[in-house]
Amino acid sequence: MIALRLHKSDAHLIRKVVIVRKIIIAGNWKLNKNIKEAVELVNDLKARCAGVTDVDIVVCPVFTALSKVAEALKGTNIGLGGQDLYWQDAGAFTGEVSAPLLKDAGCQYVIIGHSERRQFFGETNETVNNKIKAALAHGLIPIVCVGENLAERESGKTFAVVQDHVENSLKGFSAQETEKMIVAYEPVWAIGTGKTATPAQAQEVHSFIRKLLEKMHGQAVANAVRIQYGGSVKAENTRELLSQPDIDGALVGGASLKGDSFAGIVQGALAQ
Ligand code: PGA
Repeated sequence: MIALRLHKSDAHLIRKVVIVRKIIIAGNWKLNKNIKEAVELVNDLKARCAGVTDVDIVVCPVFTALSKVAEALKGTNIGLGGQDLYWQDAGAFTGEVSAPLLKDAGCQYVIIGHSERRQFFGETNETVNNKIKAALAHGLIPIVCVGENLAERESGKTFAVVQDHVENSLKGFSAQETEKMIVAYEPVWAIGTGKTATPAQAQEVHSFIRKLLEKMHGQAVANAVRIQYGGSVKAENTRELLSQPDIDGALVGGASLKGDSFAGIVQGALAQ
């Protein structure tokens, strides 16, 4: 019988090898596509991504298209997410959509705290925190967005802003709750601008986020949480971004609006 003894440093290496975080590619369609267009796009994606099981694939259409898209996706390998939610389940909150309603429409995921919501709709870490609570309470997987804008990056505040977003948006959750979340690092200057963060720039922040999660909940949780990169992701840069050790997927805007470009990103993820 061979006795296997591990030095502390070896144990660390082995743990690194066995960490498996499944890549997740999510399309954030923003305010685009009516019901007919949305169903056409997912039918196209179903054909292009048939049989893909090594990568989680998610689309996030506008609220009005969710239930029809859910019907079209039934029994497929493509998941469905909302782009936002309100933290109350029901009541006098004109114009809002709640976690139970997203579940009812067929969602498994919900994007929370996207920079466009922080910028145009007054989203704060506090509202993001309330929304994450509601999502988890109803079994929705939150995709929580964090990231600095151009002025913040240029004035050297990237890490301070990301730390503020992570620590305060994810405040008060247990280790088990945190493990279920997906964090999306989206530098605002890279969103919709064609200016992707370099893989090294993104990795630097992703690794920083993982360290913050470790400080909050320990290594096992930090190792389990998937951290997506978002900001001008396209088929051509997917592989290189995902080859970074702490980049576990992508949140895709513009390039998720067409079947060939989104499927190209999924292929890039499979190839990495
Ligand atoms: P983009 O958007 O891919 O068009 O840059 C990403 C996002 O806002 O999630």
